Amino acid sequence: MTRVISIDPERPDPGTIARAAEILRAGGLVAFPTETVYGLGADGLNPKALERLFAAKGRPPTDPVILHIADLETLPRLAREIPPPVWTLAQRFWPGPLTLVLPKQPAVPDLATAGLPTVAVRMPAHPVALALIRAAGTPIAAPSANRFGHVSPTTARHVLEDLESRIDLILDAGPTAIGVESTVLDLTRPVPTILRPGGLPREALEAVLGPVAVFDRAVAGPAPSPGMSPKHYAPRTELVVLLGPKERLRPHLREIARHYVQQGHRVGLLIAEEDRAAVADLPVEVAILGSEADLAGIARRLYPALRELDQRGLDLILAREFGAEGLGLAIRDRLIRAAGGRVIRIEEPS
Ligand code: TXA
Ligand code: MG
Repeated sequence: MTRVISIDPERPDPGTIARAAEILRAGGLVAFPTETVYGLGADGLNPKALERLFAAKGRPPTDPVILHIADLETLPRLAREIPPPVWTLAQRFWPGPLTLVLPKQPAVPDLATAGLPTVAVRMPAHPVALALIRAAGTPIAAPSANRFGHVSPTTARHVLEDLESRIDLILDAGPTAIGVESTVLDLTRPVPTILRPGGLPREALEAVLGPVAVFDRAVAGPAPSPGMSPKHYAPRTELVVLLGPKERLRPHLREIARHYVQQGHRVGLLIAEEDRAAVADLPVEVAILGSEADLAGIARRLYPALRELDQRGLDLILAREFGAEGLGLAIRDRLIRAAGGRVIRIEEPS
């Protein structure tokens, strides 16, 4: 049985937090909100709890997890060499949607890091998450609270849909604020490298660090770390993503949608408010992500909209990207992953 308990996102009830922390200390599994997506929490230093965590998600042991902390003093217990920029980054961006990859301490179980010599750590910006980590008194391993390979959850209902009866408790604090996962930054390389673009934009990191490298899915290449398989965050319905310069996306979106409809497919579109008029006369289902001027809104709607379209029995979902600036990079990454690499690229006119 999975219990769901409502909790105030700003002032979490201490009794509820204490009960949830007790479950974690006993090796149980508790789903909780962060500012990005819902996480599935387990005691990050307890191998038995980690085993349960991987089993509940159906996650292969080759996929390392993020350890969540609530204070900076915990960082040296998990990471061995902490280069000076870490303290600057932590001061600027923690708590927040930034995960740092650093050399690991021996105390961190191999299961948490998939046997890698590095560990991923983040301090989430959500009062419920922070209170829970503090009450548990241990770093909390928390992958997104979905079955492995599914779309990440931004509400407690999404968590329940995927993990009902596989976990002990869900803390329901309403929808998450950012809607895409944290930015994963590898600081063990000569040049700091974004392994997964996310809620903290590249530009914010570069303002502190200078140039950072990005593992860019639109420019495909070998995965830089385990657990970065391209087929991830996926809906059941086939998804195709349209990539290309902003001005040229809309006419192509229309033509490609029309083409699929003519082939007899039931088509869903994952698009911006501004695209609506261009496809208004087509017999397609539409999910609007928001205005293309509001990337934060698009990011927040991305996973819920994918889930909605996925439940309409369509043959195909066609989505468009939103460029590489700010949250656009994370949105593009998640779309390409959800599509399992099925992209249509509109080239710049030469
Ligand atoms: O926003 C988030 O980060 C959410 C919330 C719950 O905090 N968590 C999350 O966890 O997205 P998960 O397990 O779904 O994604 C973890 C990411 C993966 O891309 C994984 O490859 C990377 O972190 N990662 C973890 N440990 C790593 C390591 N030692 N080296 C490189 N990448 C690592
Ligand atoms: Mg995940």
